[in-house]
Amino acid sequence: MRIDIITIHPELITSPFAHSIIKRGIAKGLAEVNFINLRDFSTNKHKTVDDYQYGGGAGMVMMIEPLANCIEQLKSERPYDEIIYLTPDGPLYNQQTANTLSTLKNIILLCGHYKGIDERVRSLFITREISIGDYVLSGGELAAAIVADSIIRLIPGVISDETSALFDSFQDGLLAPPVYTRPADYKGHKVPEVLLSGDFEKIEKWRSEKAHERTQQRRPDLYQP
Ligand code: ADE
Repeated sequence: MRIDIITIHPELITSPFAHSIIKRGIAKGLAEVNFINLRDFSTNKHKTVDDYQYGGGAGMVMMIEPLANCIEQLKSERPYDEIIYLTPDGPLYNQQTANTLSTLKNIILLCGHYKGIDERVRSLFITREISIGDYVLSGGELAAAIVADSIIRLIPGVISDETSALFDSFQDGLLAPPVYTRPADYKGHKVPEVLLSGDFEKIEKWRSEKAHERTQQRRPDLYQP
């Protein structure tokens, strides 16, 4: 899968792809992430990409020309399955959307700044919008990193233990059950007996009960018994 991230701050977003699981997925050739500096597509010598908004009001707006030039160039090089704009007024992101996006071949993530992008970019080029939560970030870069991370880890082969992504919280509509590691007794705080029993049927039953209990208590909005 290829993810092209359009940004005015490439330096803000490179590090999440240079570590751990995501780094290994990229090194294995299972995912490719490119950072495209929007300023390279500016149409003026000052490399500006924003301007005052029509009608007045505080805040700059990202101009259509650099964005259109950038997206058109990328589209001339390969077909894209989705051109996604990260924006707080988009539909809320969730695991189901991550699963859908992880099956695609080429996507663009467009990071907004200031007041946002000229509305005509949204109507002409954007195929999907994503908000990562009901709060406003300074720009779309951190949101793009979150979306890209959540997608890449789902690509088969990126997580070495193939089954482990399947048991993530949300994957089956439930939060994950509690987990423990050594020591079995920390200053009197003991690991639940069942996990030490070696009885895998019992352990699975306990995990399932805990996942239901947690979801019901913490996210009643998600819970479907
Ligand atoms: N850009 C600014 N805030 C955002 C949010 N909550 N989600 C996605 N992109 C954003």
